[in-house]
Amino acid sequence: MEIVVSGIRSTGNLHLGNYYGAIQNFVKMQHEYNCYFFIADLHSLTTHPTPANLHNNVKSVLIEYLAAGIDPEKATIYVQSDVPEVAELYLYLNMNAYLGELERSTSFKDKVRAQPDNVNAGLLTYPVLMAADILIHRATKVPVGKDQEQHLEMARTFGNRFNRLYNNDYFAEPHAFNYSNNLVKIPGLDGKGKMGKSEGEGNAIFLADAPEVIRKKVMRAVTDSGPTVENQQKPDEIQNLFDLMKVVSSQDTYGHFNNLYNTCQVRYGDLKKQLAEDMIIATAPIRDRINAIAGDTDYLAKVARLGAEKARESASKTIKEVREIIGFRSF
Ligand code: TYM
Repeated sequence: MEIVVSGIRSTGNLHLGNYYGAIQNFVKMQHEYNCYFFIADLHSLTTHPTPANLHNNVKSVLIEYLAAGIDPEKATIYVQSDVPEVAELYLYLNMNAYLGELERSTSFKDKVRAQPDNVNAGLLTYPVLMAADILIHRATKVPVGKDQEQHLEMARTFGNRFNRLYNNDYFAEPHAFNYSNNLVKIPGLDGKGKMGKSEGEGNAIFLADAPEVIRKKVMRAVTDSGPTVENQQKPDEIQNLFDLMKVVSSQDTYGHFNNLYNTCQVRYGDLKKQLAEDMIIATAPIRDRINAIAGDTDYLAKVARLGAEKARESASKTIKEVREIIGFRSF
């Protein structure tokens, strides 16, 4: 059975971008593949969280994974730092990752701009750790959003380079995956770019947001003065609202508002109200389950423990073989 790996950083609550870009596919794929879904707590260390924050964020991602429908009986759910073999493979892969290519990575350049006072080596080698996450289970499919495309390309580069260096074909090539063949980029509410945890207050709709919070955020989204007979091109901030509607609303609703827009009759207030209600409906089952699971610490501990065991079984097999390939041998 093909192996699937993906992870989400423990940097806060999960939002609609994480859901439609990644988790929705995790939930489907667990029925068809041998899946490993983890919480990328090592990756989140690049921003120096406090111990309490780190722990709370790991816990909330675990709760939200389960609430969104990932089934620990079907998929292996684990915390990245519970599997030290990942860090070991990261070290080996780092020996064949070059400064120039790491500096050219778009996400590194973005981070240098975002946190100029904390350009640590972990940020630079972030794609190597991500490659280790994937290659440790020798995965071939990686369900991710569009923003991770370049990281997947780098994971292939590092795996292939290892194969060439040691003259074998140990690692298969991992590829970004989405059922529709098109990787998804869910826009934020600020009219600028993608929905993200750190893109500013009000830009992201979180799966855990209460209905009144969702309504408030959507109603505050930026709009313009509306289409005119001369110009029905949608500016970015309006296109984003329609793109969001495409994922949370029915085709009929989308078509209805698109028609109103094209005939210059759209009222943004109505459009936003509808969008907010459809977001509330889309997230309601997850929100309910978050509230039901959150207090069950025993269950969460059990899921994490079993997941770590299963993930280590697969990871330690890879590390043993990699050590052998590299030439670490006992006397
Ligand atoms: P992270 O934590 O930023 O995001 C987790 C997942 O959510 C997707 N995503 C989006 N998709 C569409 N539209 C958006 N606005 C949006 N925002 C986030 C991301 O594409 C991702 O799939 N480097 C990864 C975590 C990671 C990983 C891995 C993923 C570490 N190791 C190994 C796959 C395999 C990251 O920072 O994701």
